[in-house]
Amino acid sequence: MTTQRNGSAPVDGPIPHHVAIIMDGNGRWACDRDLPRHAGHREGMKAVRQAIEGAMETGVGILTLFAFSTENWQRPEEEIVALMRLLKLYAESEREELQEKGVEVRVLGDLARMDAETRASVEAIEEATQGGSRLRLNLMISYSGREEILRAVRLVAAEVARGSLDPEAVDARTLEKFLHTRGLPDPDLLIRTSGEFRLSNFMLWQLAYTEIHISPVLWPDFTRLDFFAAVRDYQRRERRFGRVTAG
Ligand code: IPE
Ligand code: IPE
Ligand code: MG
Repeated sequence: MTTQRNGSAPVDGPIPHHVAIIMDGNGRWACDRDLPRHAGHREGMKAVRQAIEGAMETGVGILTLFAFSTENWQRPEEEIVALMRLLKLYAESEREELQEKGVEVRVLGDLARMDAETRASVEAIEEATQGGSRLRLNLMISYSGREEILRAVRLVAAEVARGSLDPEAVDARTLEKFLHTRGLPDPDLLIRTSGEFRLSNFMLWQLAYTEIHISPVLWPDFTRLDFFAAVRDYQRRERRFGRVTAG
């Protein structure tokens, strides 16, 4: 494999169609600078822009960002309020640009737990960007993998109870129809920043055969070059899906 200049998007080799990112390390970034945690979250918004640019330059079709987990509701109230404010600010300030760039935004998770104002702003960005065909951007908010699977199981069970679904006919494709990611292919590449080696309840169903890249960079410092480096790492992998050889 030929190596390319770090500054340019990786073109030699397979391009992951769907990239998911666990954006981690905002709190440590702030702590390193004696700043409050919310300052790290604010700085993290710049990295979101970088990731989107990196994905578009690389030719990735779907970018899924883990922004707030179900478990994150257990954080101190003031941090949750700051995060929701930032989400609202992001949805309002980026709406036009994302729309112009052809980015279709979807916010996936248990949105009922969100305050009404934040929810209205994320619904507005979804509506404004609907039909964007260059990049599908999933923002996973109030999301956890187990919750998503449980929700799908409840919906499947309801269909069975109604008599419209035969339990014997339930297979992976049936369940996938009830996941938030319905209709989307599984991620090819998962990036986690801040050097943590765990999934933290993220996309437990969809990551079954995803290649994982752990970056030591704290999320607010993440740039499109880190995105390119992750894709290059992906291009060196041999994906076997349980078989003896790739392909
Ligand atoms: C990731 O950064 C953002 C969210 C989970 C909302 P953290 O806030 O988890 O930052 P660290 O892990 O404490 O550094
Ligand atoms: C995972 O990060 C959730 C998001 C990035 C939104 P956390 O910081 O919440 O995960 P743990 O606590 O380190 O596992
Ligand atoms: Mg963290």
